[in-house]
Amino acid sequence: MAMETITWVKGQVKLIDQTLLPGKLKYIYCKDVKTLWEAIKRLSVRGAPALGVAAAFGVLLGLKKFKGKDSAKFVKHVADVCDYIGTSRPTAVNLFAALEEMKASAVMHRDCSVTEITKYLKKTAMAIYDEDRRVCRTMGKFGATLIRSGQNVLTVCNAGALATVDFGTALGVFYSAKAQRKKFKVYACETRPLLQGARLTTWELLRGGIDTTLICDNMAATVMKQGKVDAIFTGADRVAANGDSANKIGTYSLAVLAKYHKIPFYIVAPRSTFDLSIKSGQEIPIEERDKSEVINFQNQSTAPKQVKVYNPAFDVTDAKLITAIVTEHGIIKPPFRQNIKNVFK
Ligand code: MRU
Repeated sequence: MAMETITWVKGQVKLIDQTLLPGKLKYIYCKDVKTLWEAIKRLSVRGAPALGVAAAFGVLLGLKKFKGKDSAKFVKHVADVCDYIGTSRPTAVNLFAALEEMKASAVMHRDCSVTEITKYLKKTAMAIYDEDRRVCRTMGKFGATLIRSGQNVLTVCNAGALATVDFGTALGVFYSAKAQRKKFKVYACETRPLLQGARLTTWELLRGGIDTTLICDNMAATVMKQGKVDAIFTGADRVAANGDSANKIGTYSLAVLAKYHKIPFYIVAPRSTFDLSIKSGQEIPIEERDKSEVINFQNQSTAPKQVKVYNPAFDVTDAKLITAIVTEHGIIKPPFRQNIKNVFK
């Protein structure tokens, strides 16, 4: 079910403030790069592909500060803006891939005027945006072949329209399966501590008319043991060259449970989420977030303030636990190192 999560409107970035969902559907307009950086940091905009687009649009916002006509200084300014945006969140590689594309676009046109370089940068940012819309729909079609009518599937976090420009990766598979009139049910894990599954995934799946049941994260094992899950679909924030995949904390435990219960475990991720410069998931930087996210819930304390907290936002699922990775180039099966290389060569 398409919805506009992030768009470029008259020199501003318009995005859904996801911290307010499901209570309020409200948009934020970012006029400057600092406002956008803060929106990324507090997860008003989130999800790997959406972060890539936010980063590209953020560079456009950052151009406004530059005064003058010196192209070399302008290209350096673009690099500085990219470095700044890169400090917002470390795990989703889409953010860094988009910044690299923007930097490369500026460098490639360094002999042009500042006005012309600006036009090329806008074109590059819009191409990143358009590509996300296209690849999500293609992944959806490939992934839908893995769902049969009558099945129950399970997902975690939010890998939907809200995590992309407007369609989703894992949830895009569900939207495509529904468009093909397949009948299936979705279990959504609530995804502590920030409840992306409860707040965002159930919200958008219900809007899309998909039969959705919310479970607490610690119920997943029981639901699998009861034979209620036929397949698991999740997104990813970074996939290493060997197929190890980082995604929202809790994904790894689902994959371990899936193996034990002999349930297929699928990752749905576009080429822009693959980081072929790293050999394995050990090299993926894992974001650690503030303890306040764990010891508070809706402004109520859930633990003593002085307690120590460990709050990694992501975990890495070993490639050997993954049945297949759905991409816009097709479905990649093991052995992943070789097959990823073949598909993206
Ligand atoms: O911390 P978040 O909400 O940005 O984490 C998002 C996820 O882990 C998603 O599952 C992932 O980015 C895939 S989105 C298509």
